[in-house]
Amino acid sequence: MTSTIIHGIRSLVTNEAALGQPHDPLGAVEDAALVVEGDRVVWAGREADAPAADAAHDVEGRAVVPGFVDSHSHLVYAGDRTQEFNARMSGRPYSAGGIRTTVAATRDASDEALSATLARHIREALRQGTTTLETKSGYGLTVPQEARAVRIAAALTDEVTYLGAHIVAPEYADDPDAYVAEVTGPMLDACAPYARWVDVFCEKGAFDGDQARAVLTAGRARGLEPRVHANQLSYGPGVQLAVELGAASADHCTHLTGEDVDALGQGDTVATLLPGCEFSTRAEYPDARRLLDAGATVALSTDCNPGSSFTSSVPFCVAIAVREMGMTPDEAVWAATAGGARALRRTDVGRLGPGAYADFAVLDAPSHVHLAYRPGVPLVTDVWRRGVRTV
Ligand code: NIG
Ligand code: FE
Repeated sequence: MTSTIIHGIRSLVTNEAALGQPHDPLGAVEDAALVVEGDRVVWAGREADAPAADAAHDVEGRAVVPGFVDSHSHLVYAGDRTQEFNARMSGRPYSAGGIRTTVAATRDASDEALSATLARHIREALRQGTTTLETKSGYGLTVPQEARAVRIAAALTDEVTYLGAHIVAPEYADDPDAYVAEVTGPMLDACAPYARWVDVFCEKGAFDGDQARAVLTAGRARGLEPRVHANQLSYGPGVQLAVELGAASADHCTHLTGEDVDALGQGDTVATLLPGCEFSTRAEYPDARRLLDAGATVALSTDCNPGSSFTSSVPFCVAIAVREMGMTPDEAVWAATAGGARALRRTDVGRLGPGAYADFAVLDAPSHVHLAYRPGVPLVTDVWRRGVRTV
């Protein structure tokens, strides 16, 4: 197999602690190179120590980071919520009710339209350095609609989440438990073949702790691994439930008690923070510092969706996390790469060491710190995915 050396890297984030300086989880290497064979990294380190390769590509002194791992988005959707955003920016609060607007539009859309929108967003995210993107159903809320959502998603990404329990379907407004029976019964049967994950929006106005537990345990019995929309709009049982069930991730984590923080600090469940959401709903940001100091693993993702967070930019989320959530630039870049990979229980992405996919972003900057230092600037110049330069 042909090998290619990517060289001239002023600063390389590997997320391989063994490759960097002591006590640096980013495993940052200066004057570095990567050797790629097929879709994988076979070597990473200082350029002076690099093995010979068949071909060479010079990044001319720029920085390289692992491709971002966006472990949380809702991109099987149709319709537009500009008006809702406008109203919010004039003082109306965000509520889960807006989801119904997108449900109505999504139900009316063709398969082709949903697929084209998702593909456009995946490309938009890729251009900004995202090489792994999870996405969810949750805007269909009937058996055939949820099944087509996960089927459309599975055609375009490996990381598909079944979120039939996003809100109670309007048809079941008077009988939420009957909707939970649908979600844990025929809808789950129809969706499980296409999904890897099961998720639930555990929140007032969506699903309570008992309902969320029923959804997650039924999903797990069908081979789906749990993740939870937890503690987004208010305090509640979501985080504790996620940790108790060994969910891969508790997402949002905006309103946390001391016990919630301790549970995330002691358990294996990743705390996935989604600052685009607080930005776009004008809400308080989650306290990443408190979670990190308690020993929690933190991931940063976009939550890209037309209602609460219509950004596909992981660098934007990194910049907010540093400015507003108490993270250092190193912590935020780790959270957006290795953290996202942890939240998806992946060891083949989110790092640039031997055996990992050759997924990386080249930055028009001397180091990854510029992702936070230069907010809003499109620093990603090239993106390689699976060993191929695609942007
Ligand atoms: O993660 N919290 C629930 N779901 C989305 C919002 C979806 C929407 O408003 O359409 C979220 O923020
Ligand atoms: Fe979400």
